[in-house]
Amino acid sequence: MAGKFTSSTQAIPNVGDVPRHIAIIMDGNGRWAKQRFMPRVAGHKRGVETVRAMVKACIARGVDYLTLFAFSSENWRRPAEEVSFLMNLFIGALQGEISKLHANGVRLKVIGDLSAFEPRLVALIREGEAKTANNFRLTLTIAANYGGRWDILQAMNQLALAHPEKAGCYGEADLAPHLMMAYAPEPDLFIRTGGEQRISNFLLWQLAYSELHFTDTLWPDFDDAALDAAISSYRRRERRFGRTSEQLGGQALAVSPAPTLTPPVTDQDA
Ligand code: IPE
Ligand code: IPE
Ligand code: MG
Repeated sequence: MAGKFTSSTQAIPNVGDVPRHIAIIMDGNGRWAKQRFMPRVAGHKRGVETVRAMVKACIARGVDYLTLFAFSSENWRRPAEEVSFLMNLFIGALQGEISKLHANGVRLKVIGDLSAFEPRLVALIREGEAKTANNFRLTLTIAANYGGRWDILQAMNQLALAHPEKAGCYGEADLAPHLMMAYAPEPDLFIRTGGEQRISNFLLWQLAYSELHFTDTLWPDFDDAALDAAISSYRRRERRFGRTSEQLGGQALAVSPAPTLTPPVTDQDA
């Protein structure tokens, strides 16, 4: 059941200068609007522009996967008007952006429990995914009604149904292909804007060995320079994956290619 990508807790992934996969919690829209005496939703609207800019910026920098947390499974707790504004914004963005994404070679993926969304939105998502399925310049994943715990549980349930005979003996490599983002390597760099230093039930499984970057910049203010600052900070990290600094043999910083694997590492993908 080997997936295309290896788990960072099972083998040492390739580490490059440019993060191959960036995952972002886009936070701070409400505060951005409040600072300007505008309704919270004005911040969400402005946040869509940042999304557009970041897709371009990631393509320009050679990032392969950009994953954005747009709506958490906990965000239903917000006032009904805000939730409904966000849904309409999502619908509008899909309607307006799919062709542009497609023209720019972007593959769109949406992860999360779509069963809670209105059929019109689900249809747009499926259409967008189908239209862009063969693009390979950048994979843009939008996490909508997504929760990290939900993801692990749905994967566990799928696995248990597919292989009841192995109950009690499941391994990481059995579970990983059932996670919503099995098509992508684990994020190298995680960014959260808006000043909070928490994961808020985002990609719990996949962030096991990601480098974390928190910035006070509010999402609508996040720009190319802020992205470059996050990438520079990533480049200065020593990604040890459990090894000692000495074992990295002078390759202390995130440089490509990764050092030769040393046993006992089991590469499930080999
Ligand atoms: C993030 O911005 C967007 C969503 C959660 C949809 P917020 O709306 O959480 O903004 P703040 O945190 O209230 O400023
Ligand atoms: C996390 O932001 C979810 C998204 C950005 C979609 P929140 O603003 O909802 O997170 P908490 O509740 O402050 O942790
Ligand atoms: Mg918030």
